[in-house]
This record gives sequence, structure tokens and C-alpha cells, in this order.
Amino acid sequence: MTIILERHQNDLDSKGKVMTKRRRFVAGNWKMNGSLDANRALLNDLVDSVKEAESDVVVFPPALYVQQVSAIVDGSNIAVGVQNISAEKSGAFTGEISVEMVKDFGVKYALIGHSERRTLYGESDKDVALKCKAAVEGGLIPVICVGETEEERENGKTEKVIKKQIVSVIEQIGIEYFKEAIIAYEPVWAIGTGKTATPEEADAVHEFIRCTLKEYDANISNLIRIVYGGSVNASNVDSLFKKDNIDGALVGGASLKAEEFTKIAFAK
Ligand code: 13P
Repeated sequence: MTIILERHQNDLDSKGKVMTKRRRFVAGNWKMNGSLDANRALLNDLVDSVKEAESDVVVFPPALYVQQVSAIVDGSNIAVGVQNISAEKSGAFTGEISVEMVKDFGVKYALIGHSERRTLYGESDKDVALKCKAAVEGGLIPVICVGETEEERENGKTEKVIKKQIVSVIEQIGIEYFKEAIIAYEPVWAIGTGKTATPEEADAVHEFIRCTLKEYDANISNLIRIVYGGSVNASNVDSLFKKDNIDGALVGGASLKAEEFTKIAFAK
């Protein structure tokens, strides 16, 4: 018996135990990179090259380019996300962009709490929770980013930090908001440094995240996709994806190169 859900496929293994195969999620966070010309060139290649990919493929351009990007990927299997979102609906919030606004342009996902937002722009766990709530209530899928710094890892605080980042969101808004969410584990020391967590290190944290969620809701913990980010490229992706708890990748630098990102989208 095979039950196909929208995002997941549950198979019974030979012993009749339900195995959850979570659909892969491969996303490119372009950060503050791109131009009208560069975006067009990259997407013209990608629309064609990833069309047979079995993963969910998403790009996160700077908000200013969302309209251009949405128009180019329209009708393809590439979805569009934003790198940040306001928790507010409208009003005197200079420089901010609301969920409703990005939905006008076909946006489906929002990155929330990327470490660059937390460290450079002072976003707190509470901000992350409120943005997550606004995203889900407005019909966007939040990709909630968590991760420890190098110092925290060296001091043996990885699990403590990750647990706090996740539990504080749950305590603010409730576990039910994770039903539609994706979690991205991005160790800060691996972002843009060329230093990737080993598959074993990443898988251990992903498993820890799943166990943390299980204390609140076993079903959500089983179905939620937890993706890894931090210097993912075409050469290291296969070993990462072999791990049971790694359901995809959030890619920075390598997502700006069509060939490299395509290989990641097709990795098994
Ligand atoms: P890099 O892939 O460039 O390390 O960036 C990772 C990241 O921060 C994605 O959100």
C-alpha cells in the first residue's frame, strides 16, 4: 500500500513498518546578489535544466527582483520565496514588506531567521516566532533557519542553542505552526566559509531537531522537512543527502551557478 500525500510518500517496508520518505527541498538563497541581466541568464538556464527534478526547487531572490523572477519561472517547476518578511500586516514600518504584498507576486515561501538576519540585524527568537506566525496565517510556507556559531559548537553548546531557537518559537506561537514549515539547519561557521558540516555532524543535529519536535507532536516531527545549509555544492551534496534526516539543502553561493545548482537539485 502506498499513500501519496502532497509532500510526502509513506511506504510500508517489508516488515510493515511505515517509512516516511520526505520529498526533497532544494532552495537557492541568492542573498544580496543579482541584477536584471544576471537573474534572467541564470533562470533561463535553470527553468530548462531542473524541469525533470524530483525535488521541490525554490529560489529566494532579493525582494526587489521577485516580480521579475516570478514572471520568468511562471509555468515551470521553480517556486519563489523571499529572504525576509515583516510580522506586521501594514502601516508605519519603513523599509518592511508584508506577507500580503509578496503574495501579490506569486511568492510561496519565506526564509525566516537566517543567521545573517539574526546577527547583522538583531532579529530575536521572538521576531522569528512572530514572522513565522504571520507567514503561515498569510499562506506562506516558512523556512525557519537555526544554527550555532563556531564558538558555541566548540563549547559544546550546539544542542542547547538549537533547542532554544526552536522551543522559543513553539512557546510563542504553538507547535501547529510547524505543520506547514520547513527547518533549515545552517551552522553559522559553515556559511560562506567553504567549511561544511560533515554528513554525520549535520545528520546528528537534524535528528536532534526531530527529537525536540517529537516532544510536542510526533506526527509533525516525522513529516517536517529539515534541510541543511552551509557551503553545500555539487561535490558534497550526495554524501549529505545519503543521511536519513537530511531532506534537502538551502544553498547560498552555489545557487548562483546554474550547473552547480542543477546538480544539487538532482542529487539523490
Ligand atoms: P553558502 O552556501 O554560501 O555557504 O550559504 C549558505 C546559506 O546561508 C544559505 O542560506
